[in-house]
Amino acid sequence: LDRLQTRTFGRQLKLLGVTSSTQEEARRLAEEGAPSGTLVVAEEQTGGRGRQGKKWFSPPYKGIWMSLLLRPQRPLSFAPQLTLLTAVAVCRAVRKVSGVDAGIKWPNDLLANGKKICGILIESAGEDERIKYCIIGIGIDVNVDRDEMPAALHDIATSLKMESGQAQNRAELIAAVLDELELLYALYEEEGFAPIRHLWEALSVTLGRRVAVKTAQRDVNGTAEALDESGALVVLDDSGKKIMIFSGDVQLT
Ligand code: BTN
Repeated sequence: LDRLQTRTFGRQLKLLGVTSSTQEEARRLAEEGAPSGTLVVAEEQTGGRGRQGKKWFSPPYKGIWMSLLLRPQRPLSFAPQLTLLTAVAVCRAVRKVSGVDAGIKWPNDLLANGKKICGILIESAGEDERIKYCIIGIGIDVNVDRDEMPAALHDIATSLKMESGQAQNRAELIAAVLDELELLYALYEEEGFAPIRHLWEALSVTLGRRVAVKTAQRDVNGTAEALDESGALVVLDDSGKKIMIFSGDVQLT
């Protein structure tokens, strides 16, 4: 990662060939006291994990499968905003390096032409309402070809190579993601969530769209109207009621 310009993010680096999941490896390092900014990157994951207990397809050499350990001095309620900040950082890096017109589906999936190119999984460990550490898992389908993807993913997933028509340099992308993350994180520390929220809105492919949302409590159908100052998605449902979504699965319909 000689292209890296960060101060701390990715300066401690563990590069692995094959591992079950970089989340697990990062967690082990966190428990052993590894410093904030430690990064774990794997060429292949045999047990890659997605949100909601799903599996994450992570074939060798074709993608970016990585987990960043952070130790924010903040309450646990910070985690959702960190999720949105991460999506903005990865989206900016992907657009800059590959030229692919990526957008964010709330809260933090990256889509290109309506199909997923990147997933983000944030897991945090806390103590007395404070964050002990966060592990930011980022999976980007970089150079996967269509015939290498499981058929079940053909309609819902794509890669930067498929979208841009050319193979992309993974090291350059990783460095760009870390640069953006460190920059936005510093901005957040200085100015709070407002500037991140505006960047998120500008990259969103969710706002103004019809959505079907599944939350633990209920299903909501309506129009995604806004991102509020806490990071919740504001949906105007079909009976005209405003509903705040703090966590859930959003489908663009
Ligand atoms: C999702 O959209 O469901 C989140 C996917 C997150 C995948 C990444 S790949 C690196 C890290 N290790 C994992 O096992 N998962 C995350």
